[in-house]
Amino acid sequence: MDDAALSGLDRAVPRYTSYPTAAQFSRAVDARLYRDWLRALPAGGDVALYAHVPYCRALCWYCACHTSVTRSPDQMENYVGLLERELDMIAGDIGPGRHLTAVQLGGGTPTELGSVGLESLTQRINRHFTIDAATEISIEIDPRYFTPSRAATLQAIGVTRASLGVQDFSPAVQRAINRWQPMETTAKAMEALRAVGIDRINVDLVYGLPLQTPDMLTDTLAQTVALSPSRIAVFGYAHVPWMARRQRAISEATLPDAATRLAMARLTASFLTGAGYQAIGIDHFARADDPLAIAARHGRLRRNFQGYTDVADVPQIGIGASAISQLPQGYGQNAVGTQDYARALRSETYATVRGCTLSEDDRVVGEIIERLMCDFAVDLDDVARRHGLPTSAFADSVDRLAPYVEEGAVVLERGQLAITPRGRLATRLVCAAFDLHLPGSQARHSQAV
Ligand SMILES: C[S@@+](CC[C@H](N)C(=O)[O-])C[C@H]1O[C@@H](n2cnc3c(N)ncnc32)[C@H](O)[C@@H]1O
Ligand code: SF4
Repeated sequence: MDDAALSGLDRAVPRYTSYPTAAQFSRAVDARLYRDWLRALPAGGDVALYAHVPYCRALCWYCACHTSVTRSPDQMENYVGLLERELDMIAGDIGPGRHLTAVQLGGGTPTELGSVGLESLTQRINRHFTIDAATEISIEIDPRYFTPSRAATLQAIGVTRASLGVQDFSPAVQRAINRWQPMETTAKAMEALRAVGIDRINVDLVYGLPLQTPDMLTDTLAQTVALSPSRIAVFGYAHVPWMARRQRAISEATLPDAATRLAMARLTASFLTGAGYQAIGIDHFARADDPLAIAARHGRLRRNFQGYTDVADVPQIGIGASAISQLPQGYGQNAVGTQDYARALRSETYATVRGCTLSEDDRVVGEIIERLMCDFAVDLDDVARRHGLPTSAFADSVDRLAPYVEEGAVVLERGQLAITPRGRLATRLVCAAFDLHLPGSQARHSQAV
């Protein structure tokens, strides 16, 4: 698919970290329904845990995450107490001792909880759940505020993977996003992690940032590869100032135009695959021996609210302000504001305020979109057969794909739909053709490319 054709079809569509997406959440899912869902989980089954820490030392203007500036150690201590209370309630409802396939500490910047907070939270997780050598314990790190002593804490609490925010190494871009982080800072954080044996390291980069040029991105990619992380995520900058108010500090005139973004997306893929990384899904790259790369090669890649994962399909329990849980019955999201979150927990109720119960249509479409986002291919006839639908069930969506078929971006043969290598940048657009909620939705999204 050439650049002109892709630019012509590009539009704002969801990132499909779930289907239905958070834009479809309503107040129909509340604390009571969420508790019923937890209680109905099949006894003794594995689960995965995500804890959201919405605090950072300073705010980056480009960031679309739900975060605020850390005010005091007391605030962190209170927040840990709330997370622990939420864990106690969950354990009461799902039963003790369930095996955790994964624990993800995300945010925000979870290391802001401090060593005492991180240790206390981990003890509480260990009290209620079973963690073993197969459990991946991952944490997001801001290299600017990371020290060898914090690395020692992470080792002590059993962290197996760390994810470092970098975004771009150019001073001009760093100033434009209010995030000053010389290359040595990132290198030192990695050294500190490796020194304590945490060598599964991810780096997050972003293309399409203010003042960023393709040359700057190439330099950033080269410097990142020199640090030898096991995974590199390169997200397209999502400019959503109506949602992330801090992005109003970024002048739109400084953002790369659509053609430059497209060039950046292409150069990222060719640079990183040329450097020996395997392309995974729409925005990840991993060394061939990384579990994510192995999962992708074996068709076991999954996508959830935290992005791509090799963790098997188990219920995901989210704790903390704004955290989303993904249970067999549907999705439930906690209050975004920390005060609302705290108020609910203090009165011994869950903080669930929004969500979505999955309909049978949602499950079918969700399966198609997840396979397209992970494998760039889906067997539509097989999906129809397994759900008791006629093979014509997706005819309308397939019709909407006509321009992509014409451009050679998509191939459909005997019920097998595949996105070709030249169509990969259009993956979110192809998924959107199956999205039953998008046509009537008022929600605003970021550009697909
Ligand atoms: C929680 S942050 C990273 C951890 C840590 N707080 C830090 O900044 O180093 C998660 C990641 O989301 C990505 N991200 C945040 N806002 C984004 C946006 N508007 N568009 C694209 N990616 C974004 C960034 O790559 C960022 O590193
Ligand atoms: S990029 Fe990280 S440090 Fe910056 S505001 Fe977002 S979560 Fe906080």
